[in-house]
Amino acid sequence: MKCVGIETSCDETSVSVVEDGRVVLSNIVSSQIDIHKKFGGVVPEIASRHHVSNIAYVVDDALNTANISFDDIDYIGVTCGPGLVGALLVGISYAKSLAYSLNKEIVPVHHIEGHIAANYISNPDLKPPFMALVVSGGHSHIVHVKDYTKFEIIGKTRDDAVGEAFDKVARTLNLGYPGGPLVSEEADKGQALYSLPKTKFDNYDFSFSGIKTAVINLVNKEKENINIQNLCASFENAVCEILVENTIRAMQDYNIGTVVLAGGVSANKKLRKLIEIESKRNGYTAYMPELKYCTDNAAMIASAAYFNYINERRYNIKERLDLNAYPSFKLGEKM
Ligand SMILES: Nc1ncnc2c1ncn2[C@@H]1O[C@H](COP(=O)(O)OP(=O)(O)OP(=O)(O)O)[C@@H](O)[C@H]1O
Ligand SMILES: [Mg+2]
Repeated sequence: MKCVGIETSCDETSVSVVEDGRVVLSNIVSSQIDIHKKFGGVVPEIASRHHVSNIAYVVDDALNTANISFDDIDYIGVTCGPGLVGALLVGISYAKSLAYSLNKEIVPVHHIEGHIAANYISNPDLKPPFMALVVSGGHSHIVHVKDYTKFEIIGKTRDDAVGEAFDKVARTLNLGYPGGPLVSEEADKGQALYSLPKTKFDNYDFSFSGIKTAVINLVNKEKENINIQNLCASFENAVCEILVENTIRAMQDYNIGTVVLAGGVSANKKLRKLIEIESKRNGYTAYMPELKYCTDNAAMIASAAYFNYINERRYNIKERLDLNAYPSFKLGEKM
């Protein structure tokens, strides 16, 4: 079964063709990073306009690369939330029109479910149940993945998402946007010599605003004497330790021996290494997506769509003409 996945929740226009949830025939990502860079972050209105002008080309490119025509499409998966509402609407409107004209079924996909599903592409033997550490620009969750479409969020950030904290630290240090990879690049050249606060709770929640503020205060105090590389290394180390400590504790308490990383921050080298080391130490197995499937892409959406499709979470478009963007779409909810 061939699924066309469509993802436009933020600043990437992405379309992919995936077979049976695991085999990627094409995955085209048209990034708007260069356009938003000068504003230091994504400007929602500009993102929507670019999705409109890009989407038809990206669909064509995805079908051509997969060497299929519209007639070969079995169903369509599309991100319906969470995300920027105007940006989501572009992908959803295109997906609805496509489904209507081809008379194919449509699967509404939760963006974070997509990030988790990226692991099914990169790790063909991976099956639920497992624990997922979801770390992205807008989310920091520990999710108990009970089955392909059954999720329980057992920990989440009480303030900033971890990717957002990386981006804010990068902005404070004038490193550029998006900040995560740039902070990590500097961290590789430094040592974790600054002492930064690690906020802990009795449950599995996170908080990253304290460490972010500590970095900003240090920069304001030390001014030109600040060692950027050491500060980045200290920040990255502390954040990765908090993420991994919490996740391993959740795995011990829930008696779950498999963990996956998901979301843009799962591209972070330090985090990938630390989760592997700590998993091994505890006799657990860690999986992660290939780097190309960590940040937003439509292959992960088509993969998640497959597992929803086979679990009857799919619609005849003519019975779901009201399908919309759901910015507060809950993980595991049936839309
Ligand atoms: N190597 C890295 N180290 C740390 N952070 C990274 C790295 N690569 C990317 N990031 C961060 O990942 C985030 C982007 O991830 P993603 O594309 O999943 O976010 P999003 O789609 O905007 O948010 P969400 O998925 O929560 O809706 C950015 O904050 C970016 O700085
Ligand atoms: Mg994302």
